[in-house]
Amino acid sequence: MQPMIIDIIAALPDIVRGPLNQSILKRAVSANLAEIRVHDLRQFSTDPHRQIDDYPFGGGAGMILKPEPIFACIESLQNEAEKTGPPIDEIIFLTPDGDLLNQPMANELSLKKRLVLLAGHYKGVDQRVRDQLITREISIGDYVLSGGELPALVLVDAVVRLLPGVLGDACSALTDSFQDALLDAPTYTRPASFRDLEVPSVLRSGDHHAISTWREAERLKKTSQRRPNLLEDHGPVSGGSETDSKTES
Ligand code: ADE
Repeated sequence: MQPMIIDIIAALPDIVRGPLNQSILKRAVSANLAEIRVHDLRQFSTDPHRQIDDYPFGGGAGMILKPEPIFACIESLQNEAEKTGPPIDEIIFLTPDGDLLNQPMANELSLKKRLVLLAGHYKGVDQRVRDQLITREISIGDYVLSGGELPALVLVDAVVRLLPGVLGDACSALTDSFQDALLDAPTYTRPASFRDLEVPSVLRSGDHHAISTWREAERLKKTSQRRPNLLEDHGPVSGGSETDSKTES
């Protein structure tokens, strides 16, 4: 199968490169399930000093990413995609004023074949880039980071781990918290007793029906305690007993 192609354009590319070389993302690339390329915006500047930012018209604090290097970089990616395929599905700008990233959005993006992510730094990016090139703006949360590099990595991780074959256990992405709008049940491993703290006996019972009933009840309990808003979106749930729920609160 053709790998998903993700091009990340970054003002500070070194922030992005390290984590791509670890764990699941590294494995996805080695297994040819994803092709993730990092582009240094500075390389697309024709300025003798490779400048990529400038002062804002109208005054104000902070520097703004200039349009020319971004247009040059994205247009070169568009040309390449036209020649080799697949076409670019989305050109995403990471910004705190974008749509909030959530699991359905990650699921949807994981079905795409080619994504371009623009990770800005400094105060912002020239609006003409957003108007002319960007097809989607995504935020990873209601807080402001120093740049879009970490948000781009968050998005890549959320998407790539969903690609078929990336996770060892084919089921495990589907059983994540949020995958069906409920938080995950508590999990335990050996030893069964640690400093007199016991693993709930149902998990050691071997009774798969009882275990899944317990997990469902725990998921509902945790979700209603921590994120009751998620329950509004959740359809009817099979009931479960909460009697054997000696777990974290
Ligand atoms: N850039 C800075 N903060 C951000 C955020 N919360 N989400 C996406 N991009 C950002």
